[in-house]
Amino acid sequence: MDYKIKRLLEKAKQAKENSYAPYSNFHVGAAVIGKNDKIYSGSNVENASYGLTICAERNAIFKMVNDGEREISAILVIGDTEEFLPPCGACRQVISEFSTERTIVYMCNKHGKYKKTTVEELIPFKFSIDFL
Ligand code: THU
Repeated sequence: MDYKIKRLLEKAKQAKENSYAPYSNFHVGAAVIGKNDKIYSGSNVENASYGLTICAERNAIFKMVNDGEREISAILVIGDTEEFLPPCGACRQVISEFSTERTIVYMCNKHGKYKKTTVEELIPFKFSIDFL
């Protein structure tokens, strides 16, 4: 396994430990590596007003953006699932905002095995700045 994936996986697993999911009990961790080579991680944070919940991927991405980085080299998402965990639709849109055709998405299962995919594959016909 590529050492960068290993680091992403470790960070995403650690983030998952801090997941706040008392309503769904579905704990998710994500880690992003920016073009700057820095890693940003996040977990899902739920709310008693359910719709205010934020996913792990967006928490990680927004940290990156707040740090001044605008380009995701790779993003990894992990949950306690047997299946490879795919980012939700809202997160796909947010991932696409900060991605290029080179951006890689790793969807992991609870064993740390992963499926590698691209943003193009996850969100074809994306809505982007090109329409504005
Ligand atoms: N969740 C994520 O954090 N990322 C995803 O891509 C899928 C869903 C969270 C949101 C909510 O806290 C819980 O998983 C169940 O939907």
